[in-house]
Amino acid sequence: MTWITNRWYVAAWDSEVDRAPIARTLCGEPVMLYRKLDRSVVAMRDACPHRLLPLSMGFKEGDSVRCRYHGLLLGPDGCATEMPIRSEKVPKAVCATLYPVVEKHRFVWVWIGEAAKADPALIPDFWPCSAPGWTFDGGYNRIACDYRLVIDNLMDLSHETWVHQGSIGQHEITEAPIETVVDGEEVLVRRWMPGIEPPPFWRDALKSAGPVDRWQVCHFLPPSSVLIDVGVSPSEAGDTIERHDSGVRGFVVDAMTPETETTTHYFWGMARNFDIDDAGFTARFKAQQGQVFDEDVEVLEAQQRSIVVNPDMKLRGYSMDQGSVRARAIIKRLVEAEAA
Ligand code: FES
Ligand SMILES: [Fe+2]
Repeated sequence: MTWITNRWYVAAWDSEVDRAPIARTLCGEPVMLYRKLDRSVVAMRDACPHRLLPLSMGFKEGDSVRCRYHGLLLGPDGCATEMPIRSEKVPKAVCATLYPVVEKHRFVWVWIGEAAKADPALIPDFWPCSAPGWTFDGGYNRIACDYRLVIDNLMDLSHETWVHQGSIGQHEITEAPIETVVDGEEVLVRRWMPGIEPPPFWRDALKSAGPVDRWQVCHFLPPSSVLIDVGVSPSEAGDTIERHDSGVRGFVVDAMTPETETTTHYFWGMARNFDIDDAGFTARFKAQQGQVFDEDVEVLEAQQRSIVVNPDMKLRGYSMDQGSVRARAIIKRLVEAEAA
């Protein structure tokens, strides 16, 4: 297993889940998601307890689902309330597995592992996605690669120079020194660029010219998220890499949920604390961010194919890969702890 099982994973955007069931494989398990009338979300194993037809193909009846094959009726607690032969008594054991589910920070989080261990306090802290004074939106891609390759990509922004040369790439990013810090189960890769000319995006966000201090802090949170704290402050404000709230600030939000060992659900977005009521800006930025991530998807899928056809070769870690090397080491340690 390449992933940690006993953790919360993003299963969907809140906006994706409605009354009609959707099917999504999470950490190798087929899951069906839908909303009840009270709008709470049900996450159920997407296989009928009878002959395993995906339940997501079935018919909704109130908050229940009727299997499309022989009509077994299951309540939102996963248990059968009516057998295919209606006159037959329903045995207690006819149930589909239900997964713990929590809605937070605009996402639907599902716990695939042992349900008794599902502590909501373990949901990664995506505070900018729901804090007052901030706005947040984003999108979704399915990527045909190991989720850890996406983490590698996001923990090493030196790739921006080449992968994104036509969009956000900038040579000064590779020139600024980086610092990698491990904090328990988390990893930070910090880059501080003092006294620079702001790039156009940040100049416009700040709505003023003049030298700025710019930062990028890539933050890995287990089991598989990366938040990237980005922004600029006017140099005269005297901000630091630890505290920087004098200017404009955003978080690139990335949650990677393994679908299989070689495919990933990629939920991405941007939370920001400037122009938060400008819905047009939010939509334009989301479209731009989607285009930038398409450039990553092309590279990541090609990398995955190359890994498969070069089994005698290994991934190497150079100095700028320290962030992802550390993040992978933490994942490996937690996976091994679960297996022990
Ligand atoms: S497979 Fe679902 S009722 Fe038979
Ligand atoms: Fe990228």
